[in-house]
Amino acid sequence: MTPCHLITGGAGFIGSCHVLQTRAAGIPVLTLDKLTYSGNLANLDSLRDDPGHVFVQGDIGNAELVSHLLRTHRPSAIINFAAESHVDRSILDPEAFIRTNVLGTTSLLRCALAYWQSLNPSEQRDFRFLHVSTDEVFGSLGPDDPAFTEQTPYAPNSPYAASKAASDHLVRAFHETYGLPVLITNCSNNYGPRQFPEKLIPLLIRNALARAPLPIYGTGENVRDWLHVDDHCAAIARVLEAGRPGRSYNIGGRAERGNLEVARAVCALLDEERPHAAGPYADLITFVADRPGHDWRYAMNCERIETELGWRARHSFASGLRETVRWYLDNADWLEAVQSGAYRQWLETNYARR
Ligand code: NAD
Ligand code: DAU
Repeated sequence: MTPCHLITGGAGFIGSCHVLQTRAAGIPVLTLDKLTYSGNLANLDSLRDDPGHVFVQGDIGNAELVSHLLRTHRPSAIINFAAESHVDRSILDPEAFIRTNVLGTTSLLRCALAYWQSLNPSEQRDFRFLHVSTDEVFGSLGPDDPAFTEQTPYAPNSPYAASKAASDHLVRAFHETYGLPVLITNCSNNYGPRQFPEKLIPLLIRNALARAPLPIYGTGENVRDWLHVDDHCAAIARVLEAGRPGRSYNIGGRAERGNLEVARAVCALLDEERPHAAGPYADLITFVADRPGHDWRYAMNCERIETELGWRARHSFASGLRETVRWYLDNADWLEAVQSGAYRQWLETNYARR
């Protein structure tokens, strides 16, 4: 029987996409997720009756639980998506990011190492620990700077980015010190279905549909490189399959856009798909106080994954964004269900004081 993959954070935005893709490839999956505010079992609804999928609610930092799961399910790979993932929340509550992203990842690494050491030589050779990370560890680029490469020194600017940088270093250290066969992927901004509406694109869609202001931090000129979540997960699968242990791989969309440009593109799509009598959605765009320490620009040089592993993004930003806007329009129930009291409290905390 094919051994399973342990996917942590598999009820979140990117993790759930990866769980679905892995099941579609016929690989059994054990999902471990704490179900924090951004974890949502509805993201895995289509696997409800799938005997090849097991879901366990739990914390990656719970060593007893993780060791038990590893002994019982004997995965051939661990893919770690579990994290606190929102920069603005990290500015208000850094400790939560240290707990999961740094301490939780370290505990997961220790469990993975003990498990790996218990495997026979051929299982040891095939085992992989893949850590999903971000371009934000590299810091901020100016308008004309070359894109980040895998050799760019780390210079994280937000508590979120610092916690991800720390976890990357620990993952690397477990390779260098103990020989654990690790892989690290550093990816740019993702968009697509099932993204929690605290992040820019789903927040814009949610607010536009509610006729609420579309908050743009600072001047709206900050640049992000956008990649469809399907392409990110395909890249992760490729790195898992053929990446060299101990290496990191940059992943990006070659789709740099200013935030205001993104907001205008979302509004134009909504004007086409769901025109409103009150006028164009772009009328709702509102400039608000900037994010402290707001990184100016991210851009990824992806030559390594393209040339070594033959990965290429399939979605263009234009078609991917249209498909994403349509997904949110077609899945109003999903969007409504994630807007709990805690979500509304977050909007109040983050935006009322700007
Ligand atoms: P998300 O917030 O949507 O999902 C995170 C998931 O992790 C949730 O399901 C949550 O319940 C779970 N989780 C949180 N703490 C946990 C813990 N202690 N134990 C077990 N589960 C826990 O985030 P996302 O956008 O899907 O990001 C997933 C990963 O990808 C993160 O590691 C993030 O740093 C990385 N990443 C994200 C992006 C992006 O644009 N969203 C880009 C590059 C890298
Ligand atoms: O670059 C990869 C990172 O992308 C991931 O590691 C993070 O997990 C993910 O959250 C994302 O971080 P960003 O901070 O870039 O994403 P966010 O959607 O929060 O913001 C995107 C840009 O839009 C950023 O420049 C800030 C701006 N913004 C964001 C929000 C929420 C606004 O102008 N208004 C907003 O209301």
